Amino acid sequence: MFTDRVVSGMRPTGALHLGHYHGALKNWVKLQAEYPCLFFVADWHALTTHYDDVRVIGDSTWEMVIDWLAAGVDPQQSILFLQSRVPEHAELLLLLSMSTPLGWLERVPTYKDQQDKLSEKDLATYGFLGYPLLQAADILIYRASMVPVGEDQVPHIELTREVARRFNHLFGREPGFEEKAREAVKKLGSRRAKHYQELRNRFQEQGDEQALEQARDLLEQTQNLGQGDRERLFGYLEGSRKLILAEPQALLTEASRMPGIDGQKMSKSYGNTVAMRDEPEVVTKKIRTMPTDPARVRRTDAGNPDNCPVWQLHQVYSDDSTRQWAHQGCVTAGIGCIECKQPVIDAVLKEQEGFRERAQPYLDDPSLLRNIVADGCDKARKLAQETMRDVREAMGLAYD
Ligand code: TRP
Ligand code: SF4
Repeated sequence: MFTDRVVSGMRPTGALHLGHYHGALKNWVKLQAEYPCLFFVADWHALTTHYDDVRVIGDSTWEMVIDWLAAGVDPQQSILFLQSRVPEHAELLLLLSMSTPLGWLERVPTYKDQQDKLSEKDLATYGFLGYPLLQAADILIYRASMVPVGEDQVPHIELTREVARRFNHLFGREPGFEEKAREAVKKLGSRRAKHYQELRNRFQEQGDEQALEQARDLLEQTQNLGQGDRERLFGYLEGSRKLILAEPQALLTEASRMPGIDGQKMSKSYGNTVAMRDEPEVVTKKIRTMPTDPARVRRTDAGNPDNCPVWQLHQVYSDDSTRQWAHQGCVTAGIGCIECKQPVIDAVLKEQEGFRERAQPYLDDPSLLRNIVADGCDKARKLAQETMRDVREAMGLAYD
C-alpha cells in the first residue's frame, strides 16, 4: 500500500520545449529507473483553463506523449496514460469534494494568481476552483508517495496532504478499531509483532520519527496482510484511524534556468522557446540571433557573461573547458559572440538528434503510440480501481 510510488502529470497545451526537458522530463527519466512511476496527460486539467478552445488539447496530447518518449521516458519502466481514460479520477474528485472546505481551495495561491494572469479568460468556474482537488485525486488514487513538481505546485501537494489527512480522519474510523488493530498486530507473527509494538511505543511516547519510519518499512515488507489490516496497522502507529489514503511528498524539481531565445525564462507564453523537436535549421537560427551582453556592441568590446543569456546556455550544455574558453574569450574580447554560440548550437543539435531518433518510430507508426497509452491506461485503471474499492467502502457506499 504505502510502497514508494511516483506520480506526475503534465497539461497538454502545446509542443514541449527544452525548458520542459531540462526542468522535468530528465528528472522523470531518472526516477523511472529508481521507482515505479506513473506519468499522465492531464487533459481534464487543461480543460479547466482551455474549455473554450478544446482543439489544442487533442492536438497536443499525442505530441506530448511523443515528446516524453523522445526524452527517454520508457514505457517498459513507466506507466504512461491519459487522465480522462481513467474515469476513477473523477469519481474520487467527486467524493473528496464532499468533505473539502471551500476555503481550502480559495486559499490556494494559484487560484487567484492564474485568474489575474489569464484575465482574458473567465476562470470564475467551479472546475477551475477545483483544479487542485482534481490534482489531489490524481495523486491519492495511486497512493503515491512522491510527486515530482516545480516550485509553483508545492501548495497543491500540501493541499493533497491535508485532503488525505481529513479523509482518513473522517472515514478511517471504525467501531472496535483498537481491538481490530491489536488482532492485526498478532497476525504479523510474534517477532514482527513485538518489533512493531516497540517501534510504535517509541514513536508515541518519545515522538521518535525514525521509529515511525522503521515501523512503516516493516509493514511494507510484510506480505501476508489483508488491505484492511494494512490500513489499520499504518493508522495504529499514529492514532486510532485506518490510513486509507497516503500523504505524498513533493519531490522538488530544480528550477530550470533555461533562458528563452530572448533572454527571459523559456516559456510558451513568451513565445521564446526552442521546441524539443524543432528542425535543426530553425534551432541554429534561433540561437544565432539570440541577444547577448547588450554592452558588447562591437567585436572588440569585452563582454560580461553574467549579463548574457548565451552564458546561461553554456551552464546547461557545456563542459568545464568549453565554459572556461567562452568566459575567457568573452571578458578579453578574444572571441566573438557567434563563435561563442557555436558549441551551444552543436550541443543542442546533438541532444535533439537523440530526441528525433527516439520519436521517429512513433511518427512512422502512430499505432505503436496508441498501444503504449492503451496499455498504460489499463494498468493505471487497475490500480485506481483498487483504491476506489477501499474509498467507497470507507464512505459507506459498498452496498451488498
Ligand atoms: N498541475 C500540474 C501542472 O500544472 C499538472 C498536474 C495535474 C499534476 N495533476 C497532477 C502534477 C498530479 C503532478 C501530479 O504542472
Ligand atoms: Fe555572451 Fe559569449 Fe558574447 Fe560573451 S561572448 S556576450 S558570453 S555570447
